[in-house]
Amino acid sequence: MGRKFFVGGNWKCNGTAEEVKKIVSTLNEAEAPSGDVVEVVVSPPFVFLPLVKSSLRSDFHVAAQNCWVKKGGAFTGEVSAEMLVNLDIPWVILGHSERRLLLNESNEFVGDKVAYALSQGLKVIACVGETLEQRESGATLNVVSAQTKGIAERISNWANVVLAYEPVWAIGTGKVATPAQAQEVHSELRKWLQSNIGAEVATSTRIIYGGSVNGANCKELAAQPDVDGFLVGGASLKPEFVDIIKSAT
Ligand code: G3P
Repeated sequence: MGRKFFVGGNWKCNGTAEEVKKIVSTLNEAEAPSGDVVEVVVSPPFVFLPLVKSSLRSDFHVAAQNCWVKKGGAFTGEVSAEMLVNLDIPWVILGHSERRLLLNESNEFVGDKVAYALSQGLKVIACVGETLEQRESGATLNVVSAQTKGIAERISNWANVVLAYEPVWAIGTGKVATPAQAQEVHSELRKWLQSNIGAEVATSTRIIYGGSVNGANCKELAAQPDVDGFLVGGASLKPEFVDIIKSAT
């Protein structure tokens, strides 16, 4: 079976309740390709998850932007995987570069989080990506391989994982990776999965691109053979997110 196109909207730490309602109503009114063609998942901040879940159209789904690395308890300020499951939140984004870099989340810590979230029944959008300095020093493939290895060493089933390649230099900068740059890394990641996990996982795992994706550049990126969708930041807060969803067709 082919890989279903996946479009995620990461709202990051943005929005008021009023703004969130507006985004949801734009999405609800949008004409979008059928759920057989594209899987759409939006990720509001924790506090808005119940609001979005209860008001969003039923063919789109929600994701949390993070969760705690193990069972909940005395971890002030954290939200556990169990709580997300309890609220019927199906997806979680883990390993976003903003958390890796600003909050020092290591490859191992992210791997532990992915493993724990999967063990609780969540589906995971796991993010990898290199900084500008790493790209310029030729370390891109080493960096994304090490990040993927941190996850691969801790999980045995990839069925509920979407891998998001998000070069840090492209995030929020307006400097999108060229289709060739994205394709090159996605294809190398797929080869890494093939050599280190196996052919089935390599063929079936969706590898999506994130970093300054917008309504104008999504079509060309989506046409790349190893780009299976997007994780969109800034543009997911705007009506053009619908155009990005439509790039699935
Ligand atoms: O997770 C999405 C992301 O980091 C990309 O953000 O604003 O460059 O689309 P943006």
